[in-house]
Amino acid sequence: MQILKYLTVYLLLTFFLSHDLPAQEINYEESKVPGYVLPDPLLRLNGEKVTDADTWWEKRRPEILALFEENVYGKVPGELHHITFREISVDKEALNGLATRKQVSILFTGKEDGPEMILLIYVPNNPPGPAPAFLGLNFYGNQTVSKDSGILITKSWVADNKDFGITDHKATGASRGVRAGRWPVEMILKHGYALVTACYNDLDPDYDDGFQNGIHPLFYNKGQTKPAADEWGAIGAWAWGLSRAMDYLETDPDIDPEHVAVMGHSRLGKTALWAGAQDQRFALVISNESGCGGAALSRRRFGETVQRINTVFPHWFCANFKKYNGHEDTLPVDQHELIALIAPRPVYITAAAEDLWADPKGMFLAARYASPVYRLLGKTGLPDDAVMKTGHPVMGTIGFHIRAGKHDVTQYDWQQFLIFADKYLKD
Ligand code: GCU
Repeated sequence: MQILKYLTVYLLLTFFLSHDLPAQEINYEESKVPGYVLPDPLLRLNGEKVTDADTWWEKRRPEILALFEENVYGKVPGELHHITFREISVDKEALNGLATRKQVSILFTGKEDGPEMILLIYVPNNPPGPAPAFLGLNFYGNQTVSKDSGILITKSWVADNKDFGITDHKATGASRGVRAGRWPVEMILKHGYALVTACYNDLDPDYDDGFQNGIHPLFYNKGQTKPAADEWGAIGAWAWGLSRAMDYLETDPDIDPEHVAVMGHSRLGKTALWAGAQDQRFALVISNESGCGGAALSRRRFGETVQRINTVFPHWFCANFKKYNGHEDTLPVDQHELIALIAPRPVYITAAAEDLWADPKGMFLAARYASPVYRLLGKTGLPDDAVMKTGHPVMGTIGFHIRAGKHDVTQYDWQQFLIFADKYLKD
């Protein structure tokens, strides 16, 4: 008997020591989602209800944006004054004449040997004229999006990946085209859209180094060694990079800067939403399976939680966000308000049926609860009768789909992005 008692204690102890603490337990059961009350995007901090567009634009929207800056993604601490663009190459007969391929460096300090982000740009040769565009960051370098041998191989740090032949964080020719499935370049071009991409590691290599590399140090005041608690983390830096890409696109005669969609997958889907929320030049936003810290409601604590994301990826958000580990109810915002910041511009949110980690229902509900702001601004938001049904996309000003399968970007996803973009980007 005594032995049994010891054995039980031993087993319980080893369980708790080898697993996450109870507070971090991951819930995948709808019945265990705690009760929660969401902040009302149309209720000002002073308690006044927002009932007209002017009050939204002048009072409430700036309030919500500031709360996200201070508590979630962090503020951009300033500006760089010497950024220059350098054209590296142009090939008018890329992809067998389908497109013009350009590569452009954004030199953050204006210096050739300084930090840079390299844009890969494909513009359809037909029809001619400024093209609407999709802009999105990639994970492993521009060379991964197509087998096109003219694409420069990224020199940035990249995560090791045996399947892509990446060791010691250096990409080689072996990774050419390995992500072509996620970037159907020809399909996009044939639909009349340009595609613009850059490697997110050009902005801030995606590992926790205390913000010593990437662009953060370019913004430090004298003596500063890391961002302040309310200053940006990596997602803030990646989103900032998307805006700098937009600065360039505004100068490129082949691109129609009024019709640029910003898109991203997963952590880069969180980034696309944050970029679209801050920078209203993005005419449309696509967030693919962005989950926690993206389109999913934090208060539901379904799948990945605030505590878990801040623990495994301590560099993604601002330091202040850690205050909400296990305390989601005290967050002054929730993620439906991030979507609301994009209003009245179209936003498309996706989920995958097997990607419970990203809380499909939490994303669907966030789309729904952002909709009152769209309606205030004269748009539909997510249609009232929308239901979450696998393989049945909904396309109001807020669009949503959940497809069968796992966490990924698939041909199906892009087919919907193109239908959605055709609806809203082609006048
Ligand atoms: C992890 C992380 C997610 C993130 C994803 C990705 O799964 O927990 O928050 O979206 O990586 O970026 O692929």
